[in-house]
Amino acid sequence: MCGIMGYIGPREAVPIIMEGLQKLEYRGYDSSGVAIIEDGVLNVYKKVGKLAELKNQLNGMTFTAMSGIGHTRWATHGRPSDVNAHPHADCQGRFAVVHNGIIENYLPLREWLISMGHKFLSETDTEVLSHLLEEFYEGDLVQTVLRVIDKIEGSFAMVILSLDEPGTIVAARQDSPLVVGLGEGENFLASDIPALLAHTRRTYILADGEIAVLTREGVQVIDQFGNSVEKPVFEVKWEAAQAEKGGFDHFMLKEIHEQPSALKDTLSGRINPDGTGVLLNEITMTPEELKNINKIYITACGTAYHAGLVGKHVIEKLARIPVEADIASEFRYRDPMIDDKTLLIVVSQSGETADTLAAMREARRRGAKAIAVTNVVDSTVAREADYVLYTWAGPEIAVASTKAYTTQLMAMYLLALYFAERRGTMPREELKTVIREMKKLSDKVKVILDNCQAIDKFVAEYSHCGSAFFIGRGLDHTVAQEGALKLKEISYMHAEAYAAGELKHGTLALIIQGVPVIALATQQALFEKMVSNIKEVKARDATVIALAMEGIKEVEKVADHVMHIPSTHPVLAPILSVVPLQLLAYRMAVARGSDVDQPRNLAKSVTVE
Ligand code: AGP
Repeated sequence: MCGIMGYIGPREAVPIIMEGLQKLEYRGYDSSGVAIIEDGVLNVYKKVGKLAELKNQLNGMTFTAMSGIGHTRWATHGRPSDVNAHPHADCQGRFAVVHNGIIENYLPLREWLISMGHKFLSETDTEVLSHLLEEFYEGDLVQTVLRVIDKIEGSFAMVILSLDEPGTIVAARQDSPLVVGLGEGENFLASDIPALLAHTRRTYILADGEIAVLTREGVQVIDQFGNSVEKPVFEVKWEAAQAEKGGFDHFMLKEIHEQPSALKDTLSGRINPDGTGVLLNEITMTPEELKNINKIYITACGTAYHAGLVGKHVIEKLARIPVEADIASEFRYRDPMIDDKTLLIVVSQSGETADTLAAMREARRRGAKAIAVTNVVDSTVAREADYVLYTWAGPEIAVASTKAYTTQLMAMYLLALYFAERRGTMPREELKTVIREMKKLSDKVKVILDNCQAIDKFVAEYSHCGSAFFIGRGLDHTVAQEGALKLKEISYMHAEAYAAGELKHGTLALIIQGVPVIALATQQALFEKMVSNIKEVKARDATVIALAMEGIKEVEKVADHVMHIPSTHPVLAPILSVVPLQLLAYRMAVARGSDVDQPRNLAKSVTVE
């Protein structure tokens, strides 16, 4: 996610803005910029790279401006570059805008504005905001912002500076965090509390649909209809380190809780307005090329590989194309059968994993086209693939991948539906049903996050155990592998994922009294089989925590603990069933005292083989 900083008051704005952006650097970014009004001119200074690049640009300049806005950009639409950096200005240089989030309908708005004579300089979705302000402005900045908000769809935290009203900064929030800092004769804006703590601990946490109007004298908050909103002052008690995690104890927990908004962003602009199909403008394969595909390989490492396993299941089921999911370090050395009818999908959060990169290069050398599913714009994987599907999850700082995994799953579903729709392998009604259920996943993840107390009991009882088993069938088996990896990599408890039907062929010998077994039973078609497998391990005195969809009562008769997830379409279950497993791993790690965000021996991006 990008960083935002704004200031209005009696002091020089630029140093305050730069220092605030510095406090937000930990979030990850690839360019930065500031906008100020000096001697009746709106000046924008921006630079690709780290803040030091912007500082070099500003070195030697003297500024007197006492209000301004600044931004550190995590690229989504448009690669990292000077021109794509924020702030963005309109044609006449009368408005400057910084923005976090995704403007879903930016393409039609851009076309309309161009038809009205506006000239765009960048590839970003954000730039439409500055031209809309210019198009609608009739002398009242706040009313203009309300009109712009009415026009756009998607997520935004936007902050606007106007040459026509230099004593005011206006900000609006929808699905992307924005905080007002309340000073004495001065006021602040930031995307995150750490940027404010040097100046004030008194804040307004803006809610969705709220607009803040800042002047030196004070702050007015209104809703999208212009009605005044009474805001309680939120007194920040956190220290800076805590504030960087948004009040959570670890980045991993913060990122687990960011999944509802991250999933919304991944879907943003990729479902057609009437919900009857998938729009992936990034995949420019012709209908013939799509029909010509007779084999797909999905290759990745670690958690990304587990996302690929789900991709295999859902693409085969919905698009009826044979798919193999392969660990990248194995794929590249097994002389895979590839020709020009083969499609490769590489999955990589960082886009820099050495084994994944090497696997993609080998497959492309043999004639395959490659789609990269990645979270980092302009990463090496993104630059070298033939097509790129960004997950737009925002920076993932914890080594353990959580929101990257669930947004990768969302990307797998989008690809499966995209292929199915264009190859005619799915009845239209079922396509609409799956899409309708996909749109509900974000809220259902939130329900799980708000109701996960059952995990505490299990952690208290079993945090001393030496090992745990995760069992499941079909899609549940793929999620079991992700659950086992999470538990191992951050709590250091040994864990093994096993196909439930395979236990009796050997591994059952390890199931003895008190061994914890997490049994995933979300797939209705395999439910009876799973109940038998739970009984099988119970008969060896294992302790079973079952994970099933709400309303499935039978499982309570056979398991020791049960975690329920909201019901959804069976193919979509992994996005929900993984969340309790993420929380289980997190809480087990805290209970066992390991370093949650930086586990021993591990790196966030494995750029060596
Ligand atoms: C997962 O929690 C780990 N951090 C690790 O397995 C990771 O998924 C793997 O190294 C792949 O990284 P990538 O997605 O950046 O390619």
